Amino acid sequence: MGRLRLLTGGESHGPAVTAILEGLPAGLPLDRAAIDAWLARRQHGYGRGGRQRIERDRVVVTGGLRGGVTLGSPLVLSIANRDFENWTGAMDPWTVDPGEVERVRRTAPRPGHADFSGAAALDRVEDLRDVLERASARETAARVAAGAVAAQLLGRYGIAIRSGVLEVGGAVVSEGPPDWELLGGVDPESPLVTPRPAEEERLKEVVRAAQDAGDTLGGVVGAVVRGLPPGLGSHTHWDRRLDGRIAQALVSIPSVKAAAIGAGIETARRPGSEAHDPFFPGPAGTLGRPTNRAGGLEGGVTNGEDLVVRAWFKPIATLRRGLPTVDLASGEPVVSAWERSDTTAVASAPVIVESMMALVLAGALLETLGGWAIADVDAGWRTLTGRIARWWRPADPEARG
Ligand SMILES: Cc1cc2nc3c(=O)[nH]c(=O)nc-3n(C[C@H](O)[C@H](O)[C@H](O)COP(=O)(O)O)c2cc1C
Repeated sequence: MGRLRLLTGGESHGPAVTAILEGLPAGLPLDRAAIDAWLARRQHGYGRGGRQRIERDRVVVTGGLRGGVTLGSPLVLSIANRDFENWTGAMDPWTVDPGEVERVRRTAPRPGHADFSGAAALDRVEDLRDVLERASARETAARVAAGAVAAQLLGRYGIAIRSGVLEVGGAVVSEGPPDWELLGGVDPESPLVTPRPAEEERLKEVVRAAQDAGDTLGGVVGAVVRGLPPGLGSHTHWDRRLDGRIAQALVSIPSVKAAAIGAGIETARRPGSEAHDPFFPGPAGTLGRPTNRAGGLEGGVTNGEDLVVRAWFKPIATLRRGLPTVDLASGEPVVSAWERSDTTAVASAPVIVESMMALVLAGALLETLGGWAIADVDAGWRTLTGRIARWWRPADPEARG
């Protein structure tokens, strides 16, 4: 993540999930309500299961902040798992009740989960619970808390992110890569967080039908970042390329099986004459581009256009009607277990995509601007934007720094 490093810890039914975000400058004021608002967005949405009615996520900061201002030390963000009080006997870090441990023991791996693969890696096949607790997407609450912080750093320089659901279970709201204007239509309170809230009844029907059938759905989420200056990332080495760093961050989200930048999927089917973005002289010596098929990145470096991404989410792997599996304790074929689970999580996914984008981009911005005191980062922003002013102007003229 460039200059930022993120570690997360915590199990789904343990006491809390925690993020440690390292590499922030000192002197950055943070807004707690904005972090909690992002956590609430992660819990929102049609098709979520009973867990979201139990949890009311709130961030607790236990390091790196004083009086609401960063200290330049690792920022430690925790979110309590309210459900832990129902799981203390099985999940307490120090003392567990063997009867409770036995009651929640799992020996039949659910297809589509880390149950088997993770247990094979950690030699825990006699109790898959040890793996599935950590593999749970509850961990994304920690990513979202850290992502909300990264977004506040980006916001200081007028860099903003929009996102929304483009497809649910094959029902398409918007084909192809999204743009800034389209995602401006997203109502974050709408049930499926699409850019066309008026069409969501049709999508709710699709989710309801899957729910009634004991089945699950996936979907496609899009995001656009506006205000990034050209020159973030690097063309010089594979692991410094920003396109690769973004792809890794997006595909690391549980359930994401593919990611695209710009019209990456569509241009693979077109001739070059219809795939790239020509340059034309713009006003006052700037460069103008009539299209943004590249989606804001060329050669692994931002080019000053909107950064456009999409992420493809597979259907939730825990089906109420189950899937064929094998009980590793008996060797017998069984149907996979169902525990309170979502029918689809796509409506909560946009804020997770935004979080991963914010973390990668804030890390890249800090890498380019330098400085460990916020005044020095601001000075770096002024130097950069001054140097490139001939080709690029911030979208937000109020952008600080
Ligand atoms: C926000 C969110 C919520 C999720 N909720 C569930 C769920 O309730 N039940 C489930 O089986 N999988 C859920 N998943 C997906 C699993 O965490 C994921 O499929 C599993 O960990 C295996 O990882 P993989 O799909 O990336 O291979 C959710 C994913 C996200 C992003």
